[in-house]
Amino acid sequence: MKDEELVKLAIEARSLSYSPYSHFAVGAAVLTKDGEVFLGANVENASYPLTMCGERNAIYNAYMHGKTRDDIVALAIVADSPNVCSPCGACRQVIDELLLPSARIVLANLKGDMKVTNAKELLPFSFSKDDLQ
Ligand code: THU
Repeated sequence: MKDEELVKLAIEARSLSYSPYSHFAVGAAVLTKDGEVFLGANVENASYPLTMCGERNAIYNAYMHGKTRDDIVALAIVADSPNVCSPCGACRQVIDELLLPSARIVLANLKGDMKVTNAKELLPFSFSKDDLQ
């Protein structure tokens, strides 16, 4: 699947965002090697820190359908932002563990800007399960 198509699906997922506090809707789509797509959007809460980001919901959605990091080939993230939507620090930590370094991470906005990156670029010198040995 082309990056543009995955971004389009992330834009559709964005419509499921529950973001009455920030009014900043984020959509995300995970693509597996079998061509399956799992969607996510940000879900906020009046107790603000309980909010869950769109990309984490998409990744967790894939895992809840039995997919693991070996299955995931791409993740698209999109918001109505001036620049491409860049994942927050917490999401970078989750991406680092739950996606392979080879997975394409497509950051986008509604204007059609796109940037392709990867977990290592987003979070160099990361803390990981190897550090727990
Ligand atoms: N948000 C995401 O869903 N993903 C990100 O990586 C950046 C931030 C959400 C969290 C919150 O609901 C809103 O955007 C504003 O921070």
